[in-house]
Amino acid sequence: MALKERIAANRCPRAKIKEFDINGYIGGGGYGAVVEAEWMKKKRLCVIKIQNKSHLVESKVTESVIREKKIQYACRSAFICRVRCSCQDWKNIYLVMDYALFGDLRKNFQEKKDFFTERAIKFCVAQVVLALEYLHASDILHRDLKLENILVFEDGYIKLSDFGSAKQVPGTTATFVGTVHYLPPEVIHQIPYRTGFDIWTLGVLIYVLFHRDFPFTEVSWSNARNFDAIQSGTLTFPGKRPMSEDAIDLTKQLLEREVSKRIGVARGGIKAIKRHPWFADINFIHIFRKEVPSDFGFKHVEAREMDPSILIPEVKMRDPFRDEFIEF
Ligand SMILES: Nc1ncnc2c1ncn2[C@@H]1O[C@H](COP(=O)(O)OP(=O)(O)O)[C@@H](O)[C@H]1O
Ligand SMILES: [Mg+2]
Repeated sequence: MALKERIAANRCPRAKIKEFDINGYIGGGGYGAVVEAEWMKKKRLCVIKIQNKSHLVESKVTESVIREKKIQYACRSAFICRVRCSCQDWKNIYLVMDYALFGDLRKNFQEKKDFFTERAIKFCVAQVVLALEYLHASDILHRDLKLENILVFEDGYIKLSDFGSAKQVPGTTATFVGTVHYLPPEVIHQIPYRTGFDIWTLGVLIYVLFHRDFPFTEVSWSNARNFDAIQSGTLTFPGKRPMSEDAIDLTKQLLEREVSKRIGVARGGIKAIKRHPWFADINFIHIFRKEVPSDFGFKHVEAREMDPSILIPEVKMRDPFRDEFIEF
């Protein structure tokens, strides 16, 4: 079945949260928490993203979490984190997925005293390109590509996750979503967009991996000031961080404000990115087959101890939001 059909079929298995033993806390998501758990009957460690229903309903994002589950479950790519099943009770929805033992790229980044080598950056970015190629071929936009949504697995390979902003967009859309520092100028202008969204964020991602700073914006600035900077700031490559000429050239072509001229959107689509000289020493087929050794010193995440009863209810109550989450 093709990806689009798998999304429409909505066949993600449903399980009961009782089937899992919660081991500890990994991270706080926007609407709840991410925990490490053991799926007892499968004797397998996994990760559960817990999101609070009333919080989701109040924020009017029930549709996005249903899309998140449908799309991420349907994806079958070595570079996209697998969702295994979903659960829900009167309080929360639960998305059960594979466990990235090395956490996300941002945590790896923060723990590293020195910068990633250009070789490591290229290795990660090549995999993100393969994930985007897979999604864009079926008109799926991720719309929230960033370090914290890229997970590192035990084999040292990465997978894209967090499909909370993803959407199937056969034509164009102008919905304002994403993360401020990664937003492309056309989204700020509310001009209808397509795959160019993810392509711009790929440019931001490469820049951040090299510089540990955003290309135009600053965390301390207001949104208004950041939006101005994205629309008219000058792109500079401070010399403190060596970046090859080819890497600079690709980043400039990705951070092209005119969408029709942006590499990856213009003629050739994502293939044009793969053919860029920066990737001349990358064999995408070998990466696709995971034949390239990954030895970049990623670190194990330690789940923190937690009392699951804070998040997961023991008392059964009538679910006030049953109708809103029928499709989850
Ligand atoms: N499958 C996973 N394996 C390991 N860590 C994960 C996994 N999924 C999420 N995380 C951690 O939890 C964080 C939040 O998860 P995410 O799906 O991005 O939620 P949110 O929508 O709240 O951003 C991630 O940035 C990552 O650190
Ligand atoms: Mg996230």
